[in-house]
Amino acid sequence: MQPVERIAQLREMLNKYNHEYYVLNSPTVSDREFDYLMAELDTLERENPELDDPLSPTHRVGSDLTKGFVQVRHIYPMLSLGNTYSVDEVDEWVKRTQSALGTEPVLVGEMKFDGTSISIIYEHGRMVRAVTRGDGEKGDDVTANIKAIRSIPMVLQGSGWPETFEIRGEIVLPWKEFDRLNAEREVNGEPLFANPRNAASGTLKTQDPSEVSRRGLDAYFYYLLGEDLPADTHYDNMQAARCWGFKVSDAMTRLRSIDEVDAFINHWDKARKELPVATDGLVFKVDSLRSQLNLGFTAKSPRWAVAYKFAAERALTALRFVSFEVGRMGIITPVANLEPVLLSGTVVKRASLHNDDIMRALDIHEHDMLYVEKGGEIIPKIVDVDTQARQTGADRVKFVGHCPACGTPLQRVEGEAAWVCPNHSGCPPQIVGRIEHFVGRRMMNIDGIGAETARVLYDEGIISDIADIYSLDISRIETLDRFGRKSAERIIKGVEDSKAVPFGRVVYALSIPYVGETTAKKVASACGDIDTLMSMDAERLCAIEDVGPRIAESIVEYFSDERNRRIVERLREAGLQMAVEADSTSDGDALAGKVIVISGTFNSHSRDEYKQIIERNGGKNSGSISGKTDFVLAGDNMGPAKLEKARKLGIPVIDEETFLGMIAKD
Ligand code: IVH
Repeated sequence: MQPVERIAQLREMLNKYNHEYYVLNSPTVSDREFDYLMAELDTLERENPELDDPLSPTHRVGSDLTKGFVQVRHIYPMLSLGNTYSVDEVDEWVKRTQSALGTEPVLVGEMKFDGTSISIIYEHGRMVRAVTRGDGEKGDDVTANIKAIRSIPMVLQGSGWPETFEIRGEIVLPWKEFDRLNAEREVNGEPLFANPRNAASGTLKTQDPSEVSRRGLDAYFYYLLGEDLPADTHYDNMQAARCWGFKVSDAMTRLRSIDEVDAFINHWDKARKELPVATDGLVFKVDSLRSQLNLGFTAKSPRWAVAYKFAAERALTALRFVSFEVGRMGIITPVANLEPVLLSGTVVKRASLHNDDIMRALDIHEHDMLYVEKGGEIIPKIVDVDTQARQTGADRVKFVGHCPACGTPLQRVEGEAAWVCPNHSGCPPQIVGRIEHFVGRRMMNIDGIGAETARVLYDEGIISDIADIYSLDISRIETLDRFGRKSAERIIKGVEDSKAVPFGRVVYALSIPYVGETTAKKVASACGDIDTLMSMDAERLCAIEDVGPRIAESIVEYFSDERNRRIVERLREAGLQMAVEADSTSDGDALAGKVIVISGTFNSHSRDEYKQIIERNGGKNSGSISGKTDFVLAGDNMGPAKLEKARKLGIPVIDEETFLGMIAKD
């Protein structure tokens, strides 16, 4: 067989297997066989570069990073849907539609997926461009990222597709992937996504298709547009799209009467909780395209469709008291402590009230009955107060004027809703919070000290600032409750190891207000060493990428405090890295041509740093394990599925230390 034929055959087979695996959930070949065929295709394409195709299954994740997104105008503007919130409102819409059309319309009921919408253009059965909703008129071209979502076909199956068409759908992050991603972010000290919708749209905006691929996005399609569509009803068009390889929800149902509409709502109000993805309602559409055309659009939405929004799960419970908690930067957060109440399967006892402004807006009084909501969010929030149930004579809950921990009068940060305790060096929860942050995984990574230990060490008077960690004495730790020789030794070893942590992470570990991980690293590499950093004024700091006036002033203020300077001196004496290291890992060819998959969490460098190290040493980072992978660089908590796959394919899994050894120059 000629390469050209074999390549075509392999592409067709691989596209089919992909579809079976990611859309139909019923693979017919083993992972091994799949990877084997993929490797064969990859070899053939490398040997015959003239036969390459950007939509070949080997190019699901392009190697190049997308540099910013290009804005593209939509052919048909992307409108929104009119919302309804009750069965009665939906019934009214059905009746209005009926009288406008003069007949009882056949409707289609479907899920309203809670993700981020996408419009994809196909020409001659091939994906041409994928664009986000943007402002409805124009959006971002995210084709490279969309290609990384394996349930979306790049080349269509079957036949009968129009020469050119647009298909719209929702990019979603399944609950399982959402939970996994957040668990991973928690371990890494990264901010958690509030809900799968934010996670999906955030992921689509990353400039790195391999990250998109890793996060496990999925897509459901619900709208076909163009001329020469295969059928004259919405339902049949979507069934055709399913045959071409698109994921179309099985929930999509033709409804022929108001009773059927009501039954559909009643069924899915409960059944939606069993779905693998988040939904925030249902959508009803007029099935006949001709009737759709007759009904037309208002300025904002089609008259032929309506959304029914599920009521967010809320519970009513009594406020016990409001506590005020002090963070490591001294910010005071009001927290509603509640009579325990069951909400979406978990017992809720506390909910953040965020800040003074939000608390005032809710106008919370003592013993109030509060509505708690958890619409797909992780942290429950107080959304309303049942003012009818308010006890007579109850006082409004006031924000505290003094720090609940140390009694210092609070200060309001200019232009912000936050109240802050200015006693940074003397307020216990702030000190303990900074110790906790300092020893954290992405900072000094001192094994053996967690939140609880930090508090015990502080309460026992063993450490009273972050620098004291370096004079910890093993015999003193041993005498503490719950500590044995072993755990004491672990702490001491963690402290020793932390002296090798790079300067950028040391800067982050200091807890300088407004200086997050990325900023700390940029500041560290721009300054080079701690003395330069401490001597810089706000103006010079502002010249550093990502540093604005607020961050610059905060850095100057931090180092102008004699107590902070003394801590830095003591950390320097303890032997911490106070300058950027001459780069020992750069620009070799130790990994030339190697395809490496990164998995898990690491100690010496972040994942992003490892990606760069791989590239700087001539290797290629890939998002998923296949026959092409040379080895997996595995940190802690490597996913079991990945481990199993690597094992199955006989791909070496190496740890961080071995890897650093491979690229070290002697
Ligand atoms: S139809 C012209 N169907 O909801 C109307 N939209 O509020 C085209 N959505 O932007 C949209 N599931 O992101 C439609 N089954 C579904 C949907 C759906 C989710 C989203 C979509 C749209 C928004 C409208």
